[in-house]
Amino acid sequence: MNSKWLESNKMLESESLCKLLNNLTEGIHVVDNKGKTILYNQKASEIDGLKPKEVVGKNIFEVFPSLTLETSTLMKTLKSGEKYLNHKQTFINYRGKKITTINHTFPIIFKDRTKGAVEISKDITQTEELVDDITDLRNKLNDNSKDKNNKKTVAENNTSFEFSDIIGQNSKFNSSVSDAMKSAQSDSSVLIYGETGTGKELFAQSIHNASNRKNNEFIAQNCAALPKDLLESLLFGTEKGSFTGAKSKPGLFEMADGGTILLDEINSMDLSLQAKLLRVLQDGRIRRIGAQKEKQVDVRIITTMNMHPDKAFEKDLLREDLYYRLSVVYIYLPPLRKRTDDIFLLTNHFIKQYNKEFDKNISDLSNKLKDVFKKYPWPGNVRELKHVIESAYNIKQLGDEIEIDDLPGYIRERLGQNRNILNNWTTEEKIKDNEDLPSLESYLEEIEMKLIKNALEKTDHNISAAARELDISRQSLQYKLKKYELK
Ligand SMILES: Nc1ncnc2c1ncn2[C@@H]1O[C@H](COP(=O)(O)OP(=O)(O)OP(=O)(O)O)[C@@H](O)[C@H]1O
Ligand SMILES: [Mg+2]
Repeated sequence: MNSKWLESNKMLESESLCKLLNNLTEGIHVVDNKGKTILYNQKASEIDGLKPKEVVGKNIFEVFPSLTLETSTLMKTLKSGEKYLNHKQTFINYRGKKITTINHTFPIIFKDRTKGAVEISKDITQTEELVDDITDLRNKLNDNSKDKNNKKTVAENNTSFEFSDIIGQNSKFNSSVSDAMKSAQSDSSVLIYGETGTGKELFAQSIHNASNRKNNEFIAQNCAALPKDLLESLLFGTEKGSFTGAKSKPGLFEMADGGTILLDEINSMDLSLQAKLLRVLQDGRIRRIGAQKEKQVDVRIITTMNMHPDKAFEKDLLREDLYYRLSVVYIYLPPLRKRTDDIFLLTNHFIKQYNKEFDKNISDLSNKLKDVFKKYPWPGNVRELKHVIESAYNIKQLGDEIEIDDLPGYIRERLGQNRNILNNWTTEEKIKDNEDLPSLESYLEEIEMKLIKNALEKTDHNISAAARELDISRQSLQYKLKKYELK
């Protein structure tokens, strides 16, 4: 009974293991110490275009006659007892399909002897094809934008903005502009933090165009837009496959050599890729996927985030060591609702711009609309303001002032639904502003400190009475007074 139970349990275990292996997205191929296949999962069979029964129990040279002791990583591992990592292979499989994989091969060592080897293969065929397309498109764009001397001028280096395009008079915002201008003189990494539409890309381009890198590439890549493997190939490039066909391709770091790379939404980058990026920042060297050698590159890195760094750490979205490397220069762009002094300056700027574009002669906003603009929280920041004005140019028929009726439908709808909406927006705005607080902990500490101060004032700084007022012990209050340095 007991042994039967054990047997069935073992069967269940091996069945579960089989299921697990067959559901993996990586191919697994295990051979014994003679090179005979003892395990070959579903994905490995898809990659090679062979059925498991055609492979299991057979020697690998029998199944893959084109392989040799030098080209088979499984056999090389068996012979040397060493592991091989990041080995890129491109080959035509048994169904005539061109496949590219990245392989890691490990020896199976038992009692100091190599008993077999295991190869884990990641199929990156589709990723390769997509990266090919993106790289070709980028190269075409590049070629179109070079002048006679093969150099790039500010207007032709894929950028549209310089510092003179940045509008603002708010003191906090202007101190960010001045920090950004100073940073253009160096090669230090810059991290720009701000909500959507606050001008992060505008700043990044302006820094590049004011730096001595301005005649070289400015390449922007959004880290949230692509899956990890694709982003990795795109950034680092890939090396020619060891078998047939595959091209070697430079990554964006190589393409931006001498210039600037903008990595947007860095907190969306996979943590393992962040580790790779950290190495680039540390020694300026990159290694194409599948390559053995590294290459030196000279690229300035600017990154952006629309989430506070502390929040990104809390959510485990950003490596702290990488953050310190990236934020040598840290620039914060305040949201528009926190610099209402800039709303009308920007409005006038966009009115002038669209008067030219639409050949119209708008002079200003109506007084009623000015009131709405002041109170509206502008969740999409300057980009939203710009679009609202552009939309008004499309809607407006008569008159030279933009009015509430010229607002885009979504804002008019909100106004129509509830005339008090602007007051509600202020509450919403307050909640949103908490996003700029470093963390929940420090927010709670701030509240605690305020409550203690109130209690002390109320009780004429009598510690025992203040502790009673706060419903905590005297010792506890004394500890907190020390902690917050309150006397
Ligand atoms: N201070 C400014 N002066 C003039 N135009 C501005 C300013 N800030 C932003 N803009 C305008 O707003 C648009 C959006 O800015 P940008 O693309 O730099 O925002 P972003 O912070 O990168 O946003 P996202 O996080 O959504 O990528 C720009 O095209 C630009 O026209
Ligand atoms: Mg942007």
